[in-house]
Amino acid sequence: MPTLHFPKGFLWGAATSSHQVEGNNHNDWSEWEKANASRLAHEAKSVFGSVPGWQERFGAEAADPKNYISGAAADHWNRYEEDFDILKELHLNAYRFSIEWSRIEPEEGRWDENAIAHYRKMLEALRTRGIEPIITLWHWTNPVWVETAYGGWENPAVGEKFLRFAERIVSEYRDLAHYWAVFNEPNTFVGLGYITAIRPPARKSIWRARQAIKTFQLTYKKTYALIHSLQPESKVILSHWLALTRPLPDTWIHRCLIPLIDYLRNWQFFKGLENFCDIIGVQFYRIDYVKASFRWGAWGPFELTQLGKWQNDMGWDLEPAALEQLLRRVFDRFKKPIIITENGLADRDDINRAEFISKTAMAIHAAISHGVPVRGYFHWSLLDNFEWSEGYWPRFGFVHIDRATQKRTIRPSALAYAKICETNALEMEGSL
Ligand code: BGC
Repeated sequence: MPTLHFPKGFLWGAATSSHQVEGNNHNDWSEWEKANASRLAHEAKSVFGSVPGWQERFGAEAADPKNYISGAAADHWNRYEEDFDILKELHLNAYRFSIEWSRIEPEEGRWDENAIAHYRKMLEALRTRGIEPIITLWHWTNPVWVETAYGGWENPAVGEKFLRFAERIVSEYRDLAHYWAVFNEPNTFVGLGYITAIRPPARKSIWRARQAIKTFQLTYKKTYALIHSLQPESKVILSHWLALTRPLPDTWIHRCLIPLIDYLRNWQFFKGLENFCDIIGVQFYRIDYVKASFRWGAWGPFELTQLGKWQNDMGWDLEPAALEQLLRRVFDRFKKPIIITENGLADRDDINRAEFISKTAMAIHAAISHGVPVRGYFHWSLLDNFEWSEGYWPRFGFVHIDRATQKRTIRPSALAYAKICETNALEMEGSL
């Protein structure tokens, strides 16, 4: 059976974010959860009820308001040593995580030295185990004062506040980290926060969405320059949700829409930032199909939908082979090295994850063979975590977390991934 080898030094990692795993954060999200848990529990069935088997498998959990309160999460804040031992045991050589701004600067201008020291210990614990960190500086959550005093990212002043935070963090940890993902998927944040407005700050307004995008773009550029001034050899990553959209049915009218949807979802945010990143961070989860709709929604008389051939527990269409096409498109457009900073699936019973990962590895290998400089892959996620407005029922982790005891149990698919990480290769036998 053939073996696919990956370039020397390839980063094989997993990713998490602070609010989703640390536990007991106090930020704009934890406030929003309290105000919205009952509503989300009530609405879950209307959103996911049509996914085959969903009601029997997740209906009861999703109907419970407690599911939507992040609470102790995976208690990663206290159990990071144990979690990093798992990374090591699984032969991962990289880990992407985020620093929680609300812990570092809980009140405007007051830096929490204990929290700063804590993240240093985490970074040291990674280094001791030979694991390369990628630090995300912002993964969707804000200190409460960012919202109450400034009204969130639509206000350019928040960008300036963020820059001070970034300066502090990069100055603190530049001896331990070299890869910096500035913002996690600002496009998703703006889409869900201002266009569909189903997540914080939940303010439906195209004008506000534009303002927020502008603040992110400007702040991103300034942060890029700041990081390079503090650490010239740094690698700054622009992490972006990238989706592939297909026409349904495959008619000219649907085909005509694809470039517009592509632009709005995938490329719009990059405008003017092409020269301000060292690495493009590709975050790829699913394929969407555009079709005509009877209801007027976020896409006017069209809607984005799923086919349902091979799906994750949330009803997202999985097509790992399509990652090759996406990577080639991103490289053709930007001519920059790429790291897949997120990719994964909600798969509580671990039925599809191993197959998904080997097909994904094949797609990455195929892209590399066509000259695309892919430098690493970060599976989402290391741990079962708090999946934002869906709460805890979707389980993305290599590691199952018992919510009552916090006991960690490694899922079998993680062992399949460990084999790839250990050998820096994919054995094709049994992988199809
Ligand atoms: C986000 C993660 C999230 C994942 C799965 C990504 O867009 O960055 O925070 O958990 O998707 O939905």
